Amino acid sequence: MNLPGHFLVSSLTLLLAVTLTANACLPSDRAALLSFRAALNEPYLDIFNTWSGEECCTNWYGVSCDPETKRVADIILRGESEDPIFAKAGRAGYMTGSISPALCQLDQLTTLIIADWKDISGEIPACIASLPNLRIIDLIGNKISGEIPADIGKLSRLTVLNLADNQITGSIPSSIVNLNNLKHLELGNNKLTGEIPSDIGKLSMMSRALLSRNQLSGSIPSSIANIYRLADLDLSVNQITGWIPAELGSMPVLSTLNLDANQLSGEIPIDILSNTGLNILNLSRNSLEGNLPDVFGPNTYFTTIDLSYNNLKGSIPKSLSLTKYIGHLDLSHNHLCGAIPVGSPFDHLEADSFANNDCLCGMPLSNVC
Ligand SMILES: *[C@@H]1O[C@H](CO)[C@@H](O)[C@H](O)[C@H]1NC(C)=O
Repeated sequence: MNLPGHFLVSSLTLLLAVTLTANACLPSDRAALLSFRAALNEPYLDIFNTWSGEECCTNWYGVSCDPETKRVADIILRGESEDPIFAKAGRAGYMTGSISPALCQLDQLTTLIIADWKDISGEIPACIASLPNLRIIDLIGNKISGEIPADIGKLSRLTVLNLADNQITGSIPSSIVNLNNLKHLELGNNKLTGEIPSDIGKLSMMSRALLSRNQLSGSIPSSIANIYRLADLDLSVNQITGWIPAELGSMPVLSTLNLDANQLSGEIPIDILSNTGLNILNLSRNSLEGNLPDVFGPNTYFTTIDLSYNNLKGSIPKSLSLTKYIGHLDLSHNHLCGAIPVGSPFDHLEADSFANNDCLCGMPLSNVC
């Protein structure tokens, strides 16, 4: 072997070694991923068959790393997505197993998405509350049980907490109000009990709070109205009691308010009905009473207003017929009486919208006034 040839070979070897090291992830990150993977079973798509070799940052399905530090930053495993892997298999994702606490060794993790795999069970490892960089936790659509880690509030960078469509029990941890970067809180369709923390209004960045279909009780904290950016509030299908806080009516960007199927009582605050930013309002199936205030006008624009199955009495306010638009109105199953207003927002409504009241009359009902 002459010198230049030898030199070339060793240079190539060196280059190869440097390239390998550059793409390889930290051995401890790789080991943590393999333990995480070992607790899961994905029988149909073989997504984990890429999880071998040293280069977990580049080649492993659903894993990506910080480009500078090469530390594992994101785990994004969605069981329902546009990825061709699903079209090829002709089915949505399905996984059993559980989320291993080995995940917590990935101490630079910022995104954890393990969504819509339908059958992942077990508990959320409590240690995830000690991953200081976590910004997104999305575990929607599995069978995760147990409680939300009590010190979840330590995740000061968290912007998304989505645990919807699982089997999570216990109450909403009081520490949750410390998540001062939280934008989306989605806990719907679980088995949560207890009250909504009274100081939930501290979540000043929150734009979406979806807590429907649980067994939450107690009253609606009026501090919610302090959440300036809140656009979408869904507390429907729980066991919430008490009055609707009038303050909700003066929230600047609230556009969807779903409080249906609870045990709310008292009157509907005037400001909620006159809030022209609100487009979707469902207060159906509560015990709301009193008259409907005459506060509608040309700036009122509702895609949906459902007040059915309450104890509302009196007549339908005439000003409702002056509104800009009402897509869907349901006043059925109350104790309303008198003539149904006429006007363009009412022309497309059908008798169902007014059925089962005490003595409503006029179109679209068949009884003449
Ligand atoms: C309003 O809520 C009730 C009760 O949860 C539900 O049955 C109804 O479909 C909702 N209305 C609309 C228009 O979505």
